[in-house]
Amino acid sequence: MVELGIKVKDLNFRWANGDFVIKSCSLEIPKGELWMLLGTNGSGKSTLLRLLAGLLAPESGYIQVLHPVGFVFQNPDHQLVMPTVGADVAFGLVEEKLPITIVRARVQEALKEVNLLSLQKRPIYGLSGGQKQRIAIAGALARQCKLLLLDEPTALLDPDSQIQLVKSVRQLVDKQEITALWVTHRLDELDYCDGAFLLEKGLLVDRGEPKRLKKRLMRLRE
Ligand SMILES: Nc1ncnc2c1ncn2[C@@H]1O[C@H](COP(=O)(O)OP(=O)(O)O)[C@@H](O)[C@H]1O
Ligand SMILES: [Mg+2]
Repeated sequence: MVELGIKVKDLNFRWANGDFVIKSCSLEIPKGELWMLLGTNGSGKSTLLRLLAGLLAPESGYIQVLHPVGFVFQNPDHQLVMPTVGADVAFGLVEEKLPITIVRARVQEALKEVNLLSLQKRPIYGLSGGQKQRIAIAGALARQCKLLLLDEPTALLDPDSQIQLVKSVRQLVDKQEITALWVTHRLDELDYCDGAFLLEKGLLVDRGEPKRLKKRLMRLRE
């Protein structure tokens, strides 16, 4: 049997007094794969990611995900809290009360994985959007996350940093057997994933082969 990174069955969610925004959602992502989630604004992508991360509680349904879970938001400035790169990556480890030598090793290893080791002592404010997103990912790696949820991580990036970021997540998924779900509306990113989902008004209306979904969405946008 295939080991799963995410398993969701018959998930339903609504905001207080509102209509359902996630409707009978069922999906599976094999462990160690990178899948993408597409859909128009307001279709429920961020809500679904928050449900998967346990940040929201479903009305009904079943969610099973690998832990720990790392979350990367669209705007890294809402996520990075410490003054320097190294301190920020270490910040996520505070709860674990690890010995300082282990913290240092984990931070260095994580920064190496995202090619930012040379920036460890640098202040965060001067860095580019792409570098900041890689710091957020390093924070998840330092916590040894098995599942990475990324909510439009490239929305604020220029095309070069965009492709660089998706390539580096592809490499991490392959190398470390991390499972990742990546929300995007940029169709060129579909070239880097193992599969994709299409969400429409809270319903998963298509899933599978990224090339086919890319064609379907390209036709819709013409
Ligand atoms: N905190 C909230 N309270 C009430 N409704 C919300 C909240 N956040 C999002 N919504 C609504 O839930 C629906 C899905 O939103 P969202 O998951 O953010 O969509 P997407 O990420 O696909 O753009 C939208 O109709 C949105 O207006
Ligand atoms: Mg969203």
